[in-house]
Amino acid sequence: MADPADPPSSDRLSRRRLLQGAAALGGSAVVGADGSELAANPNNLPPNVPPWTRSLGDGVAARPYGQPSTFEKHVVRRDVQWLTASRESSVSFTPLHELDGIITPSGLAFERHHGGIAEIDPEDYRLIVHGLVGKPLMLTLADLKRFPRVNRIHFLECAANSGMEWRGAQLDGCQYTHGMIHCVEYTGVPVKILLAEAGLKTTAKWILAEGADAAAMGRSVPIAKALDDCVIAYRMNGEMLRPEQGYPARLVVPGWEGNMWVKWLRRIKVGDQPWQAREETAKYTDLLADGKARRFTFVMDAKSVITAPSPQAPVAHKGFLVVTGLAWSGRGKVQRVDVSLDGGRNWRAARIDGLVLDRACVRFYAGIEWHGEDLLLQSRAIDETGYVQPTKADLRRIRGVNSVYHNNGIQTWHVLPSGEVENVEVS
Ligand code: MTE
Ligand code: CO
Repeated sequence: MADPADPPSSDRLSRRRLLQGAAALGGSAVVGADGSELAANPNNLPPNVPPWTRSLGDGVAARPYGQPSTFEKHVVRRDVQWLTASRESSVSFTPLHELDGIITPSGLAFERHHGGIAEIDPEDYRLIVHGLVGKPLMLTLADLKRFPRVNRIHFLECAANSGMEWRGAQLDGCQYTHGMIHCVEYTGVPVKILLAEAGLKTTAKWILAEGADAAAMGRSVPIAKALDDCVIAYRMNGEMLRPEQGYPARLVVPGWEGNMWVKWLRRIKVGDQPWQAREETAKYTDLLADGKARRFTFVMDAKSVITAPSPQAPVAHKGFLVVTGLAWSGRGKVQRVDVSLDGGRNWRAARIDGLVLDRACVRFYAGIEWHGEDLLLQSRAIDETGYVQPTKADLRRIRGVNSVYHNNGIQTWHVLPSGEVENVEVS
C-alpha cells in the first residue's frame, strides 16, 4: 500500500538528504545523523585501517552453534518480576522494538509457562491419541516425523498480551505492552492426518490437548478447528523446537489464543464435549461489567503496534523518520494498516512490506518528517474480513475494565520534543 509520505524512489531519497548532519567525507569530528558526537574510536575510522582488517579472524566453526554479535547483547527477552509470583509460572517478552521484518528469531520468542520448562528426552517422548477413535495410538517422536508434514508461518499471541493496559497506560515499552507475540515458521503433522490414522469416530466434537509439563496444561479445541488447520509441530524456524517452546512437540492453533497452543504435547483425547479445564473456565475468560464472563473466546482479533519509535526506541534525529510496526489478525490476512500522528484524528495508509500471510504478522512502514513536534503515534489494523482494530475506549464500552485478556485496542505513543517516547492514552 503506497504511503504518500514514503519516498517512492531512491532518487527522491537522495534529493531529500536523508541523513542530514551525517559525517561528510574528510570531516574530522565523528558525528551521528543528529549532529551529536559518537563514541567511535577514531583509530578505527577511515582513512585508518582497523584491527579487524589487519589480521585474520576466527576460522569456521569457532562457534558451532551461531550466536548474535556480542554488540547486540541488549537484544534479549525480558521479564517484569512484580507481574508474577514465581518465575516458573511467568512470562518473558519478545523485544519487538529491536526487530524488523515478520519472523521472530527463535532465541527471542516470548515464553509463557505455567509450570516451568519441561526438559524432555526425545527417546522418552510419547504422544497418545485416544478417546473417540477406533484405534488409539502411542507415537514416538520418530513416528511423528514419518507422517506427511507441512510448513506454516503463523503468529502466536497470548490472550493476556496488553492485559496490563486494560485500566490505563501502564508498562513502559512495546516489549512489555505487546511482546507476548511471536511469528515463526512451524513444521509438523496436520492433526487431521493423525486423527485419520487413529480412526476418528463420527461422534467426535472436541479434542483435549494436554502438556507433559508440571502444569499438565490442557485445553479443549473444537474438532472442526482441529481438523481444519491445527498442526503438531516439532520444528520452529527449521530447527527442532526450543525447550521453552515445547520441545519436542507442540500444538499449533492458527489465529487462536496462545494458551491453546499446548507445549510438550503428550496427549490428544477425542470427546464429545469440552473438558472445562482450568485454563478455559477460571482463566482465559473475559469478565464483563455485569459480572458475566465471555467464555471460549478463541480467535485473536486484528491488532497492531508501532514498534519504533516507542518508549524503548526513542527518536534519535530530526528529519526523515521511518515509523514501523507489526499488525496481525486471527481471522485471516491483514489488508491495511493505518498510521496516525495526532492521536487518531487523521489517518494515512502505511506501506506493508514483505510477506502478507494468513494469520501471520505483517510489517508496516510510514515515512514521516519530524522536526521536534509532539506526536501521538497510533496504528490500526484492518483485516480481510473488514474488521477494524478498535480504540481502547470502544473496547471498554463493550467489555468493561475487569478483563485481563483479549485487549486489542489501539496503542498510543507520545513522542516528546526530546525524542523520548511515552505510553499514553488519548480520550
Ligand atoms: N503449554 C503447556 N504445556 N504449558 C504452558 O504453560 N502456556 C500457554 C501455551 N502452551 C503453556 C502451554 C500459553 S498461556 C501461551 S501464551 C503459549 O503456550 C506461549 O507459547 P510460547 O512459550 O512459545 O511463547
Ligand atoms: Co498465554
